[in-house]
Amino acid sequence: MVTIKKNRLGLMGGAAVAALAFAGTAMADIGDNESLVVNGEIEMVIETDPPEHLQGVFDRIYSGWVFRSDETQAMQADDFENPGMIFADQAREAFDTVMGSEGNSCATCHENPESLADVRSTYPVWDEEHGTVQTVELQVNECMTERMGAEPYGYDSQEMRNMSALISSVGRGRIINVAMDGPAQETWEQGREIYYTRYGLLELSCANCHEQNYGNNIRADHLSQGQINAFPAYRLRNAQLNSVHGRFRGCIRDTRAETFAVGSPEFVALELYVATRGNGLTVEGPSIRN
Ligand code: HEC
Ligand code: HEC
Repeated sequence: MVTIKKNRLGLMGGAAVAALAFAGTAMADIGDNESLVVNGEIEMVIETDPPEHLQGVFDRIYSGWVFRSDETQAMQADDFENPGMIFADQAREAFDTVMGSEGNSCATCHENPESLADVRSTYPVWDEEHGTVQTVELQVNECMTERMGAEPYGYDSQEMRNMSALISSVGRGRIINVAMDGPAQETWEQGREIYYTRYGLLELSCANCHEQNYGNNIRADHLSQGQINAFPAYRLRNAQLNSVHGRFRGCIRDTRAETFAVGSPEFVALELYVATRGNGLTVEGPSIRN
């Protein structure tokens, strides 16, 4: 049974306290789901010990799935109930379609999407050739522009979210193991700094909500730890797939701040850092969220 300890309160900035009510709720409503097994076969790790760099910060890390309602949770347990899978299937067609001047489809070089099953659990990752950290989206566009002679997908376009959902879906159940050391370390540190920076009129950092107040309610929402293991996420609210950077943008906007652009170096760094906060959970995308 999943039980979540009550969190520390009272670390918020003055503006935030005035503007937002974090309601401490009984943790009981998180308690009745023991496990997530998708299609009766893919076993997810929905809670586990925190990675080393978060020891002392969290007792346990949790997938965002834990914080959702029973109905929303159930939708993610069965691909026939999961609208996100429709989009992954659309990308399956794109995967086999010749694009660009070189006469290649993705399948020319990657055989099938399943051959990319290890990607989601290890990305973002340092790319030796380009000397930068690559997200899945940047890697897909690299293949399109440098290996297919094709126009890149928009970073947050429908096609890209579909492809990202496909690449996640074939990696479901794998343990997230994103590297933060070696050449990626500088970018990781930049991401951590962004995570703890207070933004906007409300002067809130990611940590103020997702580290200090997970398990509490904010407005009508049950706050999770803000993990990205389950992305892209099909949101019932906007009835579409939502990318990691799209979600970051929404969260920063909610603090009434200017936000970074999708695909920006800042969001790539933030994604790398947030991904490593989920090391030990499993790949769940495409997930269902409200
Ligand atoms: C002409 C061959 C070619 C085509 C076509 C191609 N790729 Fe790639 N792809 C590669 C090579 C080579 C790599 C490894 C390069 C690297 O690590 O930077 C790669 C790497 C990748 C990776 C990362 C794999 C990993 O293990 O890190 C993904 C994801 C990917 N490609 C997706 C796609 C998608 C989606 C398409 C179609 C839109 C595509 N590729 C088309 C050759 C190709
Ligand atoms: C004012 C509080 C607040 C702040 C600040 C905030 N978020 Fe969120 N965030 C939310 C709420 C509410 C949700 C929806 C409920 C949930 O999943 O936690 C959410 C959801 C998320 C999710 C989706 C989790 C899932 O499993 O679907 C991610 C990822 C996330 N936030 C990351 C961030 C990052 C990174 C930052 C800092 C740039 C940030 N958030 C700042 C309130 C906040």
